[in-house]
Amino acid sequence: MVKVLAVLYRGGKYAEKQPKLLGTVENKLGLEQWLAQQGHELIVTDDKEGPDSEFQKHIVDAEVLITTPFHPGYATREVIAKANNLKACITAGVGSDHIDLDAANERSILVAEVSGSNVVSVAEHVVMMILTLVRNYMPANQQVSSGGWDVAEIAQDAYDLENKVVGTLGAGRIGYRVLQRLKPFDCKELLYYDYQPLKPELEAAVGARRVTELKEFLSQLDILTLNCPLHEGTLGILNKETLSYMKKGAWIVNTARGALAVKEDIAAALESGHIWGYAGDVWFPQPAPLDHPWRTMKNPHGGGQGMTAHYSGTTLDAQGRYAAGTKSILEKYFAGQQQDPANVICVGGSYGTKAYGERK
Ligand code: NAI
Repeated sequence: MVKVLAVLYRGGKYAEKQPKLLGTVENKLGLEQWLAQQGHELIVTDDKEGPDSEFQKHIVDAEVLITTPFHPGYATREVIAKANNLKACITAGVGSDHIDLDAANERSILVAEVSGSNVVSVAEHVVMMILTLVRNYMPANQQVSSGGWDVAEIAQDAYDLENKVVGTLGAGRIGYRVLQRLKPFDCKELLYYDYQPLKPELEAAVGARRVTELKEFLSQLDILTLNCPLHEGTLGILNKETLSYMKKGAWIVNTARGALAVKEDIAAALESGHIWGYAGDVWFPQPAPLDHPWRTMKNPHGGGQGMTAHYSGTTLDAQGRYAAGTKSILEKYFAGQQQDPANVICVGGSYGTKAYGERK
């Protein structure tokens, strides 16, 4: 019998009415019956903060930890140290930075995620957020909802995406899909920054150009989209200094991870007008505390902020895919079979992916 601990977000009345909300505590990724039939134990909780939480209580003897990035159970080095029985961490989704990967490797803990499961969901969201910022949509909607009507107030900050320079930091599954989706908008240039170059035919298919130096990359952009994992090489990559490389009035979309950006520096750059917009759905920590500056920050005209809770990769379509993918990873784990290499972040004490930093 294997003890499986899953940290998921609470679905409440919505999960009762919508069975496709599979990634919730109530619907348990559709795993409950299947695991029970095989005699495995499944503990599901959203209670993850502090030493007395259900997460901390059950991690001490769980063999498998499943978490969604939307409501991450943070498996820090300290948590892993007391998880004596832990052999596998599965991310129900994409992005395994909530696990201390070096600590997992020291114990040869398998870390696997459902690669590709929600990359279209996020790429679509990125394009939506870019348009939302560039066209000044959020203030426009808020204006009419609150009884107003002032075309000039909105139009003073509304632009076309056509003829702008857009760059993605990270051109993997999501970054590349963003470039594909942006191509028909006739941007002035599509740039990317990634230590793993795209194959020439993929570059040519979207008309993208690689820039290998971060300052040179950032300084050319009207719009930056972040699409890389969070690791020691990308933690705080957007900070006071790197933001200063960007053009005055540029827009930023971050659906990758909150901690890629220094929150106070983003808020200050938006408030000063150096950055004219910042939108996304990822924060650190999650859930975001009430006093997180990204909840209330605004540009000097009172707009430019397009933040939401973390949901871009958990559309109902995505949930079906990452629930099925989680089950498939578990099946292989129980059968002692090799995991699909595309899903492996850490295995046998080392990194199974090239996406979490340049390593020897
Ligand atoms: P991927 O592994 O296919 O691509 C990531 C790319 O980032 C790789 O090409 C890698 O070389 C590049 N990269 C890594 N470090 C870099 C650095 N220092 N500078 C430049 N490029 C760097 O991953 P995928 O599927 O595209 O996902 C990317 C990230 O998006 C995930 O790790 C996750 O954090 C986030 N994500 C967010 C979701 C949401 O719901 N908001 C859902 C899914 C993923």
